[in-house]
Formats: sequence, structure tokens, C-alpha cells
Amino acid sequence: MENAGVLMTCPMSSYLEAQLQKRFKLFRFWDAPSEPDFLKHNTGSIRAVVGNASCGADSCLIDSLPNLEIVSTYSVGFDKIDLAKCRERGIRVTNTPDVLTDEVADTAIALVLATLRRICVADRFVRSGLWRNGDFELATKFSGKSVGILGLGRIGTAIAKRAEAFGCRISYTARLKKPNNNYKYCSSVVDLAANCQILVVACSLTEETRHIINRQVIDALGPNGILINIGRGSHVDEPELVSALLEGRLGGAGLDVFESEPGVPEQFLGLKNVVLLPHVGSDTVETCRAMADLVIANLEAHFLNKPLLTPVV
Ligand code: DGY
Repeated sequence: MENAGVLMTCPMSSYLEAQLQKRFKLFRFWDAPSEPDFLKHNTGSIRAVVGNASCGADSCLIDSLPNLEIVSTYSVGFDKIDLAKCRERGIRVTNTPDVLTDEVADTAIALVLATLRRICVADRFVRSGLWRNGDFELATKFSGKSVGILGLGRIGTAIAKRAEAFGCRISYTARLKKPNNNYKYCSSVVDLAANCQILVVACSLTEETRHIINRQVIDALGPNGILINIGRGSHVDEPELVSALLEGRLGGAGLDVFESEPGVPEQFLGLKNVVLLPHVGSDTVETCRAMADLVIANLEAHFLNKPLLTPVV
């Protein structure tokens, strides 16, 4: 196993890097002065790729690695991996579900509270000394509001449970109606948006869900509604979101993810009713360590011919 070549696509966790270094022959793609030269010299040695939510394994990288056996992503989302190509080549794929569910759900609730209660603006108000001139503006209550969840998987369900504790009414839409809950099922995302004040995007990114938050959905949510996105930036038609916020057709937004991150649309920066996070949904010491351990455990299982812990393919 020590001789198995593992390619990390970008820097993601120094703990993960150190653990990989201990167990495998580690290649750091970002250290290579030229990617084509690096691939020309090392392509045959690489048997595993470790990517994350932003740098995965596209068809070009997979094609250049003839001995690739497994792609293990340090993320729950695997939209940056060419799954069809992996299936075609018999390459295994693993991700990091479950261990980050609580963290991402906590981040969603933090975004709801920060957006409705204007926590970041209030913080800036105190720091700038403006408090001396008068009280801060009134904010909006969260407890008891109606929350709509797009995607009632592990993370969506964890968000629903948290929102229930705030006395919120929960509705959701998903590919299939889920049994064993008291939540209202809506058959479309427009219907969901029309029935809630807080719409949370918690589904995975597929061709079907790309830009699912479009003008029609935003208008159904309306000027008193807020959009929370802890999924992927590409779930949202960003120019439509920007115009709705600028024109007052939407109440606010709390966003952890952006379509061209780390690039963020300039217009968001000046808006007081928007909370912006740098894709940190799962980023705590505890959770990132658990994710890294799961990446390692999957790779070890693979190289020891044992069943994978969290297989995608
Ligand atoms: C993931 O792991 O896919 C998410 O982006 C965490 O926020």
C-alpha cells in the first residue's frame, strides 16, 4: 500500500495531507510547475485521486491516468467528478456523507439567523461606533416561520429537525415523497417557494437541479422571503438572484456557495440583506478531521481489497 501513488488535486486539509503522506506515495498536483509535464512523468504511478468540492476529477484528468482505480472525494458532493467516465472505466468513487451532516445543517441555521436577524450588519454597526448615534434597525423573527427545504436527504432532514425546534412549519420537495414525517410535500420547487418564507437549498447538484432556483422560484418566494443556499452555487441563477435583491423582489439571501467561487458577484458585496460565507458549510476542526479519516479509511479499504465504507460508484 505504501507504494500506491495518490494524487491530491488541490490543498484541502493539512491533516489529510499528512495522513496520506504517511500511508501512500503522495503527489501534490498544485506543487507541479507544469501539469502536463507532471502527468507525462508520473501518470503511470497514480492509482488514486483525492479531490474535494472544488477540484475533483474531470474526464480530462481521468483520461490522463491509465492506472487510476479510485477517486475519493473529501466532500459529500461529487458533482466535480465525471461519474459516467468512472463507471465506464471501472473506477471506484467514494465521498464523505454522514460525518458532516450536523455541521452543514448548523451552518444553514446560522445563515437563516444571520440573514433574518442581520447579525453581520449589527456587528459592523457596533464596530463602526454608529451605536452612539442611535439604536440598530429592527430585524425579522425566525421562530415560527415556514421553512421550505429543497432536497430532504440527510442534510435536508437535519435542517428540518433544527427548524422544527424553532417552532417552524416544514415543507419540502424532493424527487420522491418521503415516508415517516409530518412535513408537507410540494410537487415542485415553485410550489414550495410559494408556501414558505425561508427556502433552503440542500439537494445535490445534477443536470436536473442546475439553476433550479430561477426567476419563477424567486418571485414565488417574494419580497418577504429569504433564500439560503448550502448546496452548490450552480443551483441558483445568480444574475436573477442579484436583480431580485436589487429590485426588492426578494427579502434576502444567506449564501455559503457561489457559481464561480471563490469569485462572488460584485453586486452582492454592497447588499445589506445578504450574508456571504466562503463555502465553509462543513469546516470545523472536528468535522474536517472526521472527513479526512473517512477518505483515508476508504482508500485503505480499497487497497486492502475490503468493501468501501461510503461508495458512490
Ligand atoms: C461538501 O462536502 O460537498 C460540501 O460542500 C460541504 O459544505
